[in-house]
Amino acid sequence: MLSPMRFTEATEKRRTFGIISHPDAGKTTLTEKLLLFGGAIQTAGAVKNNKIKKSATSDFMEIEKQRGISVATSVMAFAYNGKQINILDTPGHKDFAEDTFRTLTAVDSVILVIDCANGVEAQTGRLMEVCRMRKTPVIIFINKMDRDGKEAFDLLDELESKLDIKVRPLTWPIGMGDRFQGVYNIYQKGLNLFAANKTKISDEVVSISSLSDPTLDQIIGENPANELREEIDMVEGVYDPFDRNAYLAGDVAPVFFGSAVNNFGVKELLDTFCEISPSPQGRESDTRMVEPEDERFSGFVFKIHANLDPKHRDRIAFLRIVSGRFERNKFYHHVRLGKDMKFPNPTSFMAQDKSVIDDAYPGDVIGLYDTGSFKIGDTLTTGEKMLFKGIPSFSPEIFQELENLDPLKSKQLDKGIRQLIDEGVAQLFVQQPGNRKIVGTVGQLQFEVINYRLIHEYGANCRFVPRNYFKACWITTTNAAQLASFERAKSNYLALDKDENLVFLAETPFLLQMAEQDYPDLTFHHTSAFKLEA
Ligand code: G4P
Repeated sequence: MLSPMRFTEATEKRRTFGIISHPDAGKTTLTEKLLLFGGAIQTAGAVKNNKIKKSATSDFMEIEKQRGISVATSVMAFAYNGKQINILDTPGHKDFAEDTFRTLTAVDSVILVIDCANGVEAQTGRLMEVCRMRKTPVIIFINKMDRDGKEAFDLLDELESKLDIKVRPLTWPIGMGDRFQGVYNIYQKGLNLFAANKTKISDEVVSISSLSDPTLDQIIGENPANELREEIDMVEGVYDPFDRNAYLAGDVAPVFFGSAVNNFGVKELLDTFCEISPSPQGRESDTRMVEPEDERFSGFVFKIHANLDPKHRDRIAFLRIVSGRFERNKFYHHVRLGKDMKFPNPTSFMAQDKSVIDDAYPGDVIGLYDTGSFKIGDTLTTGEKMLFKGIPSFSPEIFQELENLDPLKSKQLDKGIRQLIDEGVAQLFVQQPGNRKIVGTVGQLQFEVINYRLIHEYGANCRFVPRNYFKACWITTTNAAQLASFERAKSNYLALDKDENLVFLAETPFLLQMAEQDYPDLTFHHTSAFKLEA
């Protein structure tokens, strides 16, 4: 048994985070550079393959192949500066946004990558909403400074107004595009000079005693030096001094400028990340707050990945450890099933390699081989009957009814669709009478994946018929009589989600508004995350 001190030490040095961005802002490139710095990979290009390219809308094998690769790179662990770092990959493709939202429940902080020319884009806004909801601390990396983009102050204003978060620059760019000379590190009072280099890690910092140091004029030129002095004056005037507690509370996001593809600004980002980012945080369960120091093991499943080989229907469940130490071959309690299970081959993910581990600590993510026992959101404990909260489902954007084309294969279809739903590929709403299955997703791509897998893995014969719904709304109320009358009036538009929660499928914004007006005691939630507050 590990001494309590060693256990605390192991927990405290863990840093589990996700990188999020709008596609093409540079998430993959930055991830790769962080891994290079951490020594987890030796060559660039290793993570790149993980991307589901925009064009891959109908090439099923390509999707499948890429899904396979993403198992290996779903969690990338490496050691750096005495810290054990776990990067959780989030798919950039918007059709997989739901996957990203769930992964965000398993991280303790986030790095948000912004393209300096595009600023805050649609996908960034949605992802940040989830971070704000959970008060996840965020560091912002403004990327592609080697290209012409928006002015730094404008970008910061845009971040504050569009993302509804305060920002605090910790480095400051000297010029941009062709005139980009590097960054001034506001805290270390050093200059990091830019040299475009895609392969070498540059971390040379030129110290200057203060901004009035004449060396500054010699190095970057008189005009840029004066401009920098003015800008830093403004930064100090406009923004409050950096306050780590405000960052940890999710109120202020420190900002860095750099160029990931040129390895520039990445080291400052990583060093600061190691210094300020939170160690593993506790999670709320339905009975109590579970802190990582708690020696009783607990964890939750936030992602399930199917085996690529259709003949082996086993899957990998990704479990985030919340408290205590996980040990191989020890019995743990699967709370939803009320069953004890042990795991002979739990794996950790060290960059490209999966390896069997003997134990793991709070903050770690481990892979558990599963033959169908797990659903997203499941909790494992040492016996305690509690369930972690907060794997939210969001209202899907696209709804289609699943039609069985072969009555003899209805069992296969039923099993297949339920298993895919457990994996979180889509959401299922079942309508009565007739057990009609409405499948909801964020993007069209999922329907192609589901159809392909139902046919190839489960031998089903089915098709999807588009349904014109605008939103799925989860309903809560304390007025049972009003709910009963709503159920009578709207029975054609009601369904049950996978956890048997009542959902209203609204056809248009107007009909939703009418329902809200006519039934004032009912609350219509656009996400199932209302359970977080319940
Ligand atoms: P993503 O995961 O957020 O979708 O973005 P990714 O890292 O794939 O980067 C998108 C594109 O932006 C890539 O170019 C990448 O090389 C480029 N990029 C990343 N960081 C920088 C940077 O600091 N400066 C500049 N100028 N470009 C950057 P691509 O043409 O799509 O791919 P590739 O052919 O370069 O691999």
